[in-house]
Amino acid sequence: MWLEGDAVRMIDQRALPFDLKILELRDVEEVARAIESMAIRGAPAIGAAAAYGLAIAEARGDDLGRAAARLRRTRPTGHDLFAAIDRVLRDVAGGATAREAAEAYAREDVERCRAIGRHGKRLIKEGTRVLTHCNAGALATVDVGTVMAPLRAAREAGRDFFVYVSETRPYLQGSRLTAWELGQEGIDHAIVVDAAAGLLLQRGEVDLVLVGADRIAANGDTANKIGTYPKAVLAKAHGVPFYVAAPMTTVDFGARGGRAIPIEERPEEEVLTMAGVPVAPKGSRARNFAFDVTPARYITGFITDLGILRPADLRKRRPRRTSKQR
Ligand code: MRU
Repeated sequence: MWLEGDAVRMIDQRALPFDLKILELRDVEEVARAIESMAIRGAPAIGAAAAYGLAIAEARGDDLGRAAARLRRTRPTGHDLFAAIDRVLRDVAGGATAREAAEAYAREDVERCRAIGRHGKRLIKEGTRVLTHCNAGALATVDVGTVMAPLRAAREAGRDFFVYVSETRPYLQGSRLTAWELGQEGIDHAIVVDAAAGLLLQRGEVDLVLVGADRIAANGDTANKIGTYPKAVLAKAHGVPFYVAAPMTTVDFGARGGRAIPIEERPEEEVLTMAGVPVAPKGSRARNFAFDVTPARYITGFITDLGILRPADLRKRRPRRTSKQR
């Protein structure tokens, strides 16, 4: 994702892995719709898209307050969206241009991911069998990724390991996007259906569960793609470490616990159809929860840009100035 002239350009994640399409978004409404329709997705990537959205609003002479309000209404769960908007507005109030603030935010996102890679690399040893869920790769950030960062760093260190990718119904971020990114990096992997996690863990075929996060509450409760929570419970039941890789921009110190995290519900058509083809009887309804919350007690640690933190240590890293919440 990058700014080119007065447009935001980004990969259309709906077309992958079969088509590499670049979208060119020219106003805030187009950026908002790209976020809502999942053309751009993944908490840090959504945050950066919103920051760039404010930069193009500024270039067009649009009202930044109204642009920010529109972007805040796109997807409720991921915290980076709100952190990025607050950051740009704060910098603008301090005399920067929105463009400068957005470019800085995007640059720092890449640095945060690289730091996650440096800290998390030691968890991926020769022969480690990792289970991941959804996509927390370069596509879900500005570049590098969160889960993908330690995997990439371990690969660069010459280690061979294996990744089980759960397909992530209904949007298939695992099989379409994570498998594609792992393939690009030459990392050995296999796609499994979401319901296979129990069998794999029971058979002792997973050494480490590693997922991303959309919003982490101050007590460590973590919202991530629906299907994360059962994997955490299963990991604990089988004595397998469960780590969350996320930048500190995903931590919402204003949310004391998981109950304060809003859970997005998406259109039921995403569950009732696959690639436009119905997969349920006409007249059946669906509930399409996009995220679930894993209580902190199931989480071994957070691989952050500040290092590997235990859930109880998160609060100690609260910045003196917490960004204004919605
Ligand atoms: O609905 P999505 O695809 O935006 O959900 C994304 C996830 O749940 C990711 O795991 C999370 O945002 C971490 S991305 C670095």
